[in-house]
Amino acid sequence: MRILVTGGAGFIGSHLCEELLGCGHEVWALDDLSTGRLENLRTFERQPRFRFLEGNVMDSRWSTAWWPRATGSTTWRRRSGSSTCWRTPCAP
Ligand SMILES: NC(=O)c1ccc[n+]([C@@H]2O[C@H](COP(=O)([O-])OP(=O)(O)OC[C@H]3O[C@@H](n4cnc5c(N)ncnc54)[C@H](O)[C@@H]3O)[C@@H](O)[C@H]2O)c1
Repeated sequence: MRILVTGGAGFIGSHLCEELLGCGHEVWALDDLSTGRLENLRTFERQPRFRFLEGNVMDSRWSTAWWPRATGSTTWRRRSGSSTCWRTPCAP
């Protein structure tokens, strides 16, 4: 499955990316680097199944360009706490 992880360069998001890559998924991490760090992606950034996208999730370009191309997604809502939302079941 191709999964878009928002906040993927953050503490929780980067661990989620690593876990999903370990499960055999293709992972796209979207992050505006407001608090996240590219350093959090270092251990897997060269994996061919991983792609980093720098941008704000609120930018409508992401919803039209990337969301439709992902088959699964996770969402992290900073203000309201953790929220993981799968559009499709987690299976490679
Ligand atoms: N070593 C540790 O134990 C450790 C280290 C860091 C954090 N923490 C804890 O983890 C929790 C926080 O972790 P987290 O992963 O939620 O925070 P985080 O700030 O690391 O992750 C949020 C990510 O979302 C990104 N982001 C925010 N708004 C965005 C937007 N509009 N568009 C795109 N990207 C956006 C940020 O750049 C960041 O990468 C806290 O409880 C903190 O204390 C623990």
